[in-house]
Amino acid sequence: MASDLVRFSVTIPQTLLTEFDAYAARRGTVANRSEALRDLMREKLVEEDLRTPEEEVVGSITMVYDHHTPDLTRKLDEIQHAYIHEIVSAMHVHLDHNNCLEIIAVRGKGEAVYRLADCLLGVKGVAHGQLTCTATAGVMRAALPHLHDHGEHDHHAHDHDHQHAHHAHDHGEHDHDDHA
Ligand code: NI
Repeated sequence: MASDLVRFSVTIPQTLLTEFDAYAARRGTVANRSEALRDLMREKLVEEDLRTPEEEVVGSITMVYDHHTPDLTRKLDEIQHAYIHEIVSAMHVHLDHNNCLEIIAVRGKGEAVYRLADCLLGVKGVAHGQLTCTATAGVMRAALPHLHDHGEHDHHAHDHDHQHAHHAHDHGEHDHDDHA
């Protein structure tokens, strides 16, 4: 695994580095310049993937609402039943007499996941809501390239090139292998 790590040098202003180190330090457990930078890079890549409707994304939809709002819970249920393939799991917390917190784990093509979030968060009475995508299949593969290389050690170097060049195309192949 260690051989997958590469070092590179970056030239940036001292003040920017000082600010970045302070940011990394605020992150507590990952008070490490390299880890903080890796997180930022992954975050940006996830953001980019979200703009590709065909890319698979995983994440969560969080929303808060007053369950007394007429017709609200029925509408939310109806929408969720229409997206059973994208919804992995849901947690409902009764916050107080009026308010409910709902956290829905989602997984699917960016296009469908975004549409689901828009539908739920657009329902009248949903006071606060947000879709957060934490990872995508593409980013997970870039972070952990060996997970998908089982049985392919003879063509190890080639696989790496192939993954980066055709990373969307790899989904089907690997999904098929995994479930076979
Ligand atoms: Ni509730």
